[in-house]
Amino acid sequence: MQIIKEKAALREVISKLKSEDSRIGFVPTMGALHNGHLSLVRQAATDCDVVVVSIFINPTQFDNTTDLDNYPRTLDSDVKKLEELDLNLIIFTPTAIELYNKQIVSEHFQFDGLEYEMEGKFRNGHFDGVGTVVKKLFEIVQPDKAFFGEKDFQQLQIIKTLVKRYQLGVEVIGCPIYRENNGLARSSRNERLTPKIRLEASFIHETLLKVKDKFGTESANQIAIWVENEFKAHPYFKLEYFEIADSETLKPITTEIGDKKFRAFIAVYSEDIRLIDNIALNY
Ligand code: PAF
Repeated sequence: MQIIKEKAALREVISKLKSEDSRIGFVPTMGALHNGHLSLVRQAATDCDVVVVSIFINPTQFDNTTDLDNYPRTLDSDVKKLEELDLNLIIFTPTAIELYNKQIVSEHFQFDGLEYEMEGKFRNGHFDGVGTVVKKLFEIVQPDKAFFGEKDFQQLQIIKTLVKRYQLGVEVIGCPIYRENNGLARSSRNERLTPKIRLEASFIHETLLKVKDKFGTESANQIAIWVENEFKAHPYFKLEYFEIADSETLKPITTEIGDKKFRAFIAVYSEDIRLIDNIALNY
């Protein structure tokens, strides 16, 4: 396993690997690695010869400086977890200056309207930040395949659009949501929950499972009202949004269901900790 901090050094290693016809997998992360990340790395190692894992807390995708300041920074334990996998890995840990040069700002993107839905309404500039950093990383790593968790389903659809728009030649693979034993979707932010709230947070996935049961027998509007009432009555979680949307366009469901695939998306707060989750409804 190698740890590389500079993009020029990584470019050199990648170009050697490419000349040997090695297939390169890529798992971009912001660190605070958990089993969800590790499952992406294992998947990448199954599909590719070498896996690059980037660990970089991208400042441009945070719309809130408190969230950025509170984001867990655990580089030593992240490296240890990756080492223990005993796979053919390269860890890329650039600084912000290294990746962005002097101007740590986002490019502005249009992602066919995907960027205005759900997360886009609540996290100003977030997807410009994600698009900027992922485009930069793809240009340096030049992966054959890149692996993203479906927990950030909107991000996954946006990155697929980014790759098409800029013809980046990367196959983007969405991997199933990795859950804790109680159903809570794995997230680096879970570390900030108290043990009691972390257990109680099973409520989020349980609610989504009930939504899946209701889908097809109750209207989307009835389901949304039911979810809102469930959260109003809950002592620990505050609902930010709940939406049933088309999995491709991420547009809210209308009465026309046809053969479209739908997912339910949710964002909730426990004090200042924001948790998101989603579930496929009819596929
Ligand atoms: O999903 C994440 O952790 C981040 O948004 C990503 C893709 C690593 C970009 O900073």
